[in-house]
Amino acid sequence: MALRNICVIGDEVLRKKAREVTVFDDRLSELIDDMIETMSFENRGIGLAAPQVGILRRVFVVDVGDEHGLLEFVNPEIVSSEGKVMSSEGCLSVPERGGTVERPEKLIIKAQNRKGESFELEAEGLLAICICHEYDHLEGVLFVDKLVEVEETT
Ligand code: NI
Repeated sequence: MALRNICVIGDEVLRKKAREVTVFDDRLSELIDDMIETMSFENRGIGLAAPQVGILRRVFVVDVGDEHGLLEFVNPEIVSSEGKVMSSEGCLSVPERGGTVERPEKLIIKAQNRKGESFELEAEGLLAICICHEYDHLEGVLFVDKLVEVEETT
């Protein structure tokens, strides 16, 4: 495993749409392991998407510290969502900025794991919020694009 560099706002890789994963090989596993290490140990984040480490593939990892633990999503699809909550967010790719965005309260997501096996997950609360935030990264969208309120965190 290795730590990867986090791309920050201004880097155009963060603005591109990530491509579907079609090959479930050791390289994919290595990417996911590196992302987990980069997220948890280096930066203490709760989520990280592949474009944030410069890889335009539809992969993200999430660990909000709840009973679901660490989750890996490959080729995710948000099947349905409901409700609305205001969410105060930050992002490893947008250093020293925070703000409030609107997110769904609950969602159902379908994805594959690193082996290509499909699964479905129902998420709510912080996990649902985090999944939406990371999913947006795959579409080239950052939370600062959706702000309803700006906060200074410095
Ligand atoms: Ni982010």
